[in-house]
Amino acid sequence: MLVNYISIAFFAYLVLISASKAQSGPTKSGAEALLKWKESIGNNSILSSWVYPDNGNFSSSNPCKWSGIACNNAGDITEINLAFTGLQGTLEHLDLSSFPQLLRLDLRENQLTGAIPLDIGTLTKLQLLDLSTNNLTGSLPLSLANLSQVIEIDFSRNMITGELDPWLFPNGTSVTNTGLVSLKRLLLQDTYLSGHIPIEIGNSKNLVLIALDRSFFLGPIPQSLGNLSELTILRLNDNQFSGQIPPNIGTLSKLIDIRLFINQLSGSVPREIGNLSSLVTLHLAENNFTGHLPQQVCQGGKLVNFSASYNNFSGPIPASLRNCTTLYRVRLEYNQLTGNLDQDFGVYPSLTYIDLGYNRLHGNLSPQWGQCRNLTLLRVSGNMIGGEIPNEIVQLNQLGVLDLSSNQLSGEIPAQIGKLSKLTSLSLRGNKLSGHVPSEIGVLSNLGYLDLSLNMLSGPIPDQIGNCLKLRFLSLSKNGLNGTIPYQIGNLVGLQTVLDLSHNSLSGEISPQIGKLINLENLNLSHNNLSGSIPNSLGDMVSLLAIDLSCNDLEGPLPDSKDFSLFPPKSFANNKDLCGDLQGLRPCNTPISTTKNGDQSRMVIIVTTSTVGSLLFILVVVGIIVLYKRRYQWNVQEDEQEVPLQRENLFSFLNFDGKIVYDDIINATEDFNDVYCIGVGGSSRVYKAKLPSGQVVAVKKMNSTTEGMEIDEVRSFVNELATLEEIRHRNIVKLYGFCSHERHKFLVYEFMERGSLADILSNEKEAKELDWDKRAKVVKGVANSLLYLHHDCVPPIIHRDISSKNVLLNSELEARVSDFGIARFLKPNSSNWTTIAGTYGYIAPELSYTMEVTEKCDVYSFGVLALEVLMGSHPGTLISNLTSLVDQKIQLKDVLDPRLSPPTTQKIADELTSIVNLALWCLHADPQSRPTMHVASELLQMQAGDD
Ligand SMILES: *[C@@H]1O[C@H](CO)[C@@H](O)[C@H](O)[C@H]1NC(C)=O
Ligand SMILES: *[C@@H]1O[C@H](CO)[C@@H](O)[C@H](O)[C@H]1NC(C)=O
Ligand SMILES: *[C@@H]1O[C@H](CO)[C@@H](O)[C@H](O)[C@H]1NC(C)=O
Ligand SMILES: *[C@@H]1O[C@H](CO)[C@@H](O)[C@H](O)[C@H]1NC(C)=O
Ligand SMILES: *[C@@H]1O[C@H](CO)[C@@H](O)[C@H](O)[C@H]1NC(C)=O
Repeated sequence: MLVNYISIAFFAYLVLISASKAQSGPTKSGAEALLKWKESIGNNSILSSWVYPDNGNFSSSNPCKWSGIACNNAGDITEINLAFTGLQGTLEHLDLSSFPQLLRLDLRENQLTGAIPLDIGTLTKLQLLDLSTNNLTGSLPLSLANLSQVIEIDFSRNMITGELDPWLFPNGTSVTNTGLVSLKRLLLQDTYLSGHIPIEIGNSKNLVLIALDRSFFLGPIPQSLGNLSELTILRLNDNQFSGQIPPNIGTLSKLIDIRLFINQLSGSVPREIGNLSSLVTLHLAENNFTGHLPQQVCQGGKLVNFSASYNNFSGPIPASLRNCTTLYRVRLEYNQLTGNLDQDFGVYPSLTYIDLGYNRLHGNLSPQWGQCRNLTLLRVSGNMIGGEIPNEIVQLNQLGVLDLSSNQLSGEIPAQIGKLSKLTSLSLRGNKLSGHVPSEIGVLSNLGYLDLSLNMLSGPIPDQIGNCLKLRFLSLSKNGLNGTIPYQIGNLVGLQTVLDLSHNSLSGEISPQIGKLINLENLNLSHNNLSGSIPNSLGDMVSLLAIDLSCNDLEGPLPDSKDFSLFPPKSFANNKDLCGDLQGLRPCNTPISTTKNGDQSRMVIIVTTSTVGSLLFILVVVGIIVLYKRRYQWNVQEDEQEVPLQRENLFSFLNFDGKIVYDDIINATEDFNDVYCIGVGGSSRVYKAKLPSGQVVAVKKMNSTTEGMEIDEVRSFVNELATLEEIRHRNIVKLYGFCSHERHKFLVYEFMERGSLADILSNEKEAKELDWDKRAKVVKGVANSLLYLHHDCVPPIIHRDISSKNVLLNSELEARVSDFGIARFLKPNSSNWTTIAGTYGYIAPELSYTMEVTEKCDVYSFGVLALEVLMGSHPGTLISNLTSLVDQKIQLKDVLDPRLSPPTTQKIADELTSIVNLALWCLHADPQSRPTMHVASELLQMQAGDD
């Protein structure tokens, strides 16, 4: 940092010297400066009038007539305006000291890159500085403080912040702009860089507008802004500003427009903001504010746009909102505001959008809302609103979204609901509405989303619903609807996400027309009284991902579609007599009595298809950890009885080609004969098993035969895992299933032909086969799997044992991470494990003094592994000798595996260099300073990206 300041000071000194020399003929030197800049930025057609006069005499080609340039009477350049001209290039060679009389510099909406010139402060007369909407980078120059006359500063929509460390990018690396932007964002999250507003900005007393929105600023909002008594517009939204709003902002009586949304500001909002009598726009949304909203926010009677959503505001709705008739758009959702919906709000003729969802409002929905004629969205979901829905609501003929869900509304749905002809989304879910579903609903031809579930509606589903052709989502579940399902529902071919009619009293047969819903992904007709057979046409619903027909009176065969046999048996459970090729159902050609229960009582085995495989994989491993933890306790309580039946139910919901393969595995391994053993671990042995189908799987048999997984405990894991929607990744070994038998406990997973990375690297012939390109891919594969575990899983998962033994390779030499034996879920509140786990040589140093396991421990192990892949062996002492990354310049050739010949192309050499640099970064002794896997994989991606 110090170095930066010194260089800035030095630069400013140079600028001063050159300015003092340029006294003769300001316009001439201005013109020359412009031409020099033009030369530096290449061909921009807008600048075609900027030419050297043939005779070298500027008066014949007066630069004051050049496009974008204006002068005063004395011939001094006072304005450079090249806004919206598609200008490309940098400002690097624009010598600003040549324009001492400049009043306006307007370069907005171009494609300028590079930094803001450090000598911007020499423009001491400048009034307008607009560089918005470019791709400028770097930080704000401190010399801005010298712009004592400036009225408007707009740097918004740029990428202004600090610079990236060049050592991350080896020589010759070209990085795409979008890659750079996303990397910067990531780095910013990790606070590697900073871009603060200089405090000195408070010196520019004439400032009327400051716009720094949508950039990469962080740190506090300087208190000195409170000195800018002329300020009317303050736009700081979409940055990373933190801390509190300086209270003296509330004294800036001319403020009209304050936008602070999407930052990390906290604390309470100064009450004084309510004193700003000119306020038209106040955006506070998406911060971390607490306390009350400024009660007088509309005291001036001018407030038009007001947002405070997604904060932790509590206390009452501001009293001044009641007669704030100017309101146009209001967003207060997701706070803990209290108040009364009919008393704290009034009539707002201009209001188009109001979202009060998920607060603590009570009261009724007053008929007055019907007078807010311009409303397009009205959302009060997730409050405690009672009473009935007033009929006046149907007067809102502009309304597109009406969301009253999760309240206490009772009474009927207004019969004239069809008048809301622009309605696209209607949610009344989770109230106490009764009566019928009005047939007028069928008039709502724009309706895409209809949720009336969880009410007390009765009567039939109106046929007219089949006219709502734009419906994508339809749920009427959990009501008391009866009658048959109208066949017209089959007309709703746009239905895509959900058709849910479950938990009603619907009867009769399922209409074959339902099969026309070929875009539908989720069909739920469970918990009704539907009878007859399942129409074969349902087999045509090619988009179905889930179906639930359970708890009805259905009988007969399942549709003879292959996809149908892949649904879990519980989708069809509790019916009269369904049959089919699915576990839990009787085969259609056998009578009911002879279901095959015999085998099942002997064992519990599940072999899954790959989709759910990894989920189960982790489930099981976690289950096994529990088992081991429990073991000591169970040993004491020898009399503990087994809980076989429940566990069976718990785990027997998945199948594998409809077959149970326990016996196959016992046969294939000749009851775990050592001949088939391909690996031995601390608590397990791994066998290779060739199933009769020809498929080869790896079977990891646990040494223990102890019983005693506690069902409750396992179940809570199941629930936890259920939230990890679809955990699967191409760089994570697939689990097919597991067995928890009295005699054997084993996992069945994908067989990896080439064994572990450790094995390959230790074998000269195989190590040579793993060439540089493949090694780079292995590193990327492991990075991707960790990226997935750390950032895509909720809660994140820490592997805790990344090592070359736990990275397996398939026949293509692609990496898959395995052995989640000690993986744990990273939950904010859970206490961390107190034992060191992992493999010696890969364990992050901080674990020797703190027991806190974080993702950064995996990052460290990844760094070791990445070096090991390039070096061909564990880096060993190289790591302990690392003192400081930046000083320590490791030569690529010193670390490359000597068994391979050096890389032949520059591209691969660059790639390897960047892997080494990244690995060194990952090995940083301070966990905070290591990159996240997000940053790591982004860096690797960039290398792969530019061919
Ligand atoms: C500026 O950045 C935007 C968004 O990242 C990108 O689309 C555009 O191509 C960039 N322009 C230049 C000149 O780099
Ligand atoms: C980068 O390239 C320049 C010139 O090509 C060379 O002088 C410099 O040493 C290189 N730096 C590194 C780190 O390889
Ligand atoms: C928001 O504030 C709470 C406590 O006031 C704090 O725990 C939390 O980390 C903050 N969140 C962010 C994103 O700053
Ligand atoms: C709102 O009502 C209060 C008192 O009832 C009044 O003082 C204020 O001027 C009104 N504001 C507007 C904008 O009408
Ligand atoms: C309502 O909206 C219409 C059309 O957008 C507009 O012309 C009219 O002025 C608005 N009414 C009020 C009171 O703002």
